[in-house]
Amino acid sequence: MLFSSKKDLIGIDVGSSSLKLVRLKESRGNYQLVNVGILPLAPETIVDNAIMDSPAIVEAISNLIVGMKVKGRRVATSVSGHSVIIRKIMLSIMTEEELEASIQWEAEQYIPFDLSEVNIDFQILGPDEKDPSQMNVMLVAAKKDYVEDFVALFAEAGLEPVVMDINCFAVENTFDVNYGFVEDEVVALVDLGASATSVNVLKADVSLFTRDIQAGGNLIREELQKRLGLSSDEAERAKLGVRNIGDVDPEAIDEVMDDAVENLVQEVQRSLDFFAATSGDDKITKIYLTGGVSKSRKVCDALEKHLGLPTEIINPFRNIAVNEKEFDPEYLEAIGPMFSVATGLAMRRVGDK
Ligand SMILES: Nc1ncnc2c1ncn2[C@@H]1O[C@H](COP(=O)(O)OP(=O)(O)OP(=O)(O)O)[C@@H](O)[C@H]1O
Ligand SMILES: [Mg+2]
Repeated sequence: MLFSSKKDLIGIDVGSSSLKLVRLKESRGNYQLVNVGILPLAPETIVDNAIMDSPAIVEAISNLIVGMKVKGRRVATSVSGHSVIIRKIMLSIMTEEELEASIQWEAEQYIPFDLSEVNIDFQILGPDEKDPSQMNVMLVAAKKDYVEDFVALFAEAGLEPVVMDINCFAVENTFDVNYGFVEDEVVALVDLGASATSVNVLKADVSLFTRDIQAGGNLIREELQKRLGLSSDEAERAKLGVRNIGDVDPEAIDEVMDDAVENLVQEVQRSLDFFAATSGDDKITKIYLTGGVSKSRKVCDALEKHLGLPTEIINPFRNIAVNEKEFDPEYLEAIGPMFSVATGLAMRRVGDK
C-alpha cells in the first residue's frame, strides 16, 4: 500500500481531562494500530468546554507528536458541548443538492445562534418511516469562533486539521468498525467523560436521538472534595478506588461516591426516558459504554440496575490489528475506554463529514 500512510489521518481527541492520539494504517478496510498516546491536561485547561489555557494544549499536542515520533501532519479532530447543536429534523423529500442550497433557510428555526456565527452541516438520514413524503435529516451547527479556536491549537502545534468531527459521531464510527450495526436493532452509545456525558441512540446506523449531558466524572470528584474536604488530587485518587486517604473514613468515601454516581446515572436515565417517551416502537436493547468513567464498576452496575438493560464497554481496538511486541495488550485494554473518540477520528478521511 504505497500511498496508504498518506491518506491516514492522525486522530486527536482533545478531552477536558486528557489529550488522546491514535494513528492507524488502513489497507483494504483493515486497520492496524500505529500510534496510541494519552497525556493528562490540568483540570483548569478546559472548563465548561471553553479553552482556558491554549498554550498548555499546544504543548501537550506537540509533546505527544514528538514523543511518539508520529508521522504526518494532517489531523482529524472533534468538538462537542454547548457550542455544538445536533438536531434531527424532518423536511420534505429533496435531493442533497437542493438541501445544500436551502439549508441555511431550513436551519434557522432550529439553531439558537445567529446563523452568521455558525458552520452548518447536515446528513440526510432517509425517508421517514411513517410519512414517506418527508425525510429525516441530521443537522449539525458548530459555533465558528469555537471551531476556529480549535483549529488554531493544531496550527500552532504545526499540524493541519483537515477533518472536524463531532465526538459522538466519532464514537459511532468506532462502534461501526469494531462491532457493526445490526438491522432494526436499537442501541445506545454512552460516552462517560470527565466533564460531559454524551448519549447517542441508533437504530442500525441511523441516529435517532442525541443528547449532551454537562456532567461526568468531575462531578464525582467535586462531590468528594465538597463533602469530605479532600483536595482535588485526593478526591481523584478516592474516585479511582484508593481508600487510605489521611484519616478519612473509607465508608464515607463510598457513601459520597454512591450518591454522586446515582446523580450521574439519573441524568443518563432521564435522557433515555425522554427518548423512550418520544420514540414510539423503537426500544433500546443494549447500552454500549465508553469514556474513562465507564471503567468504574459502580457506574456500570448502577446504569445496568437503573436502566434494566445489558451494558457492555466498547473496546475501540477490537477489530484493529495490534502488534503485541509494540503494544502491551493489557495496557490497551486498560486505556481502551478513553480511546473511542480518537480511534473513530483516526478512521476518518479527508472529505468525510
Ligand atoms: N477506573 C476509573 N474509575 C472511575 N473513573 C475513572 C476511572 N478511570 C478514569 N476515570 C475517570 O474518567 C474521566 C476521564 O475520561 P475521559 O478520558 O473519557 O474524559 P475526557 O475525554 O477527558 O473528558 P470529556 O470528554 O468530558 O471532555 C475522568 O473523570 C477520570 O477520573
Ligand atoms: Mg471525551
